[in-house]
Amino acid sequence: MTRNIGILGAMAQEIDEVKALLTEKTTVKIANREFVVGKIGNVRCVVAFSKWGKVAATITATLLIQEFAVTDLIFIGTAGALADGLKVGDIVISKCLVQHDLDARPIISRFELPLLNRTYVNSDPELTDLAGKAVKRLLERGVEHMVGEEAVKEFNLAPTLHFGDIASGDQFINSNEKREEILSLLPDVLCVEMEGAAVAQVCLEFNTPFTVIRTISDTADHNARVDFGKFIVEVANAYSRAIISEMFQLF
Ligand code: ADE
Repeated sequence: MTRNIGILGAMAQEIDEVKALLTEKTTVKIANREFVVGKIGNVRCVVAFSKWGKVAATITATLLIQEFAVTDLIFIGTAGALADGLKVGDIVISKCLVQHDLDARPIISRFELPLLNRTYVNSDPELTDLAGKAVKRLLERGVEHMVGEEAVKEFNLAPTLHFGDIASGDQFINSNEKREEILSLLPDVLCVEMEGAAVAQVCLEFNTPFTVIRTISDTADHNARVDFGKFIVEVANAYSRAIISEMFQLF
């Protein structure tokens, strides 16, 4: 089957540069969302801003699958680090996704997806492997090729790549108490964000392979060391473009 890859970004700015990679572009508007349809190299794709949070991302992912018939879905964005040793600029690729704010106890256990009989959704091994290969190649070339030397200095970037669990919920996590609570209940989670596990559930139900790629923008605690807006524009945007561009060379 010819691939038609859906690419979702959690922030509009995170995918601006990805959109710039597309040729033969057309834009379609549905439900207050813009879907940019085109090609990267010879591979067909559709790029959209997911909007923030689980419900918004669910709507966008469902539209990508139903209206644009995407065969695979890649989610790219930022996340707050939970695991020790993760630092701003590091990249996390999902092994599996969990919703840290889902709790239908006492009917089913905490975090379990209602009527799906599971808590975690695995990302697609092939897509995850391709994403890993793409990031490894980029990091071998040096992060300054992705973002420029100024941003490397400003944000003290020395990125490393990690594979593991990602937790999503409808909250921006920025307190020690909340981050410790999530970690105590879900100790294998590397980072938190607000969309990935919702997109994973959509993909599970539609049987669509997916992967989630997240750049660490903060440590999900009181330490607002990084100007989030600046990080998105100067780092996350450039990472997204480089990773997607490299990944598409592997399809
Ligand atoms: N996305 C980036 N950082 C995040 C955080 N700390 N919590 C939730 N989503 C995020």
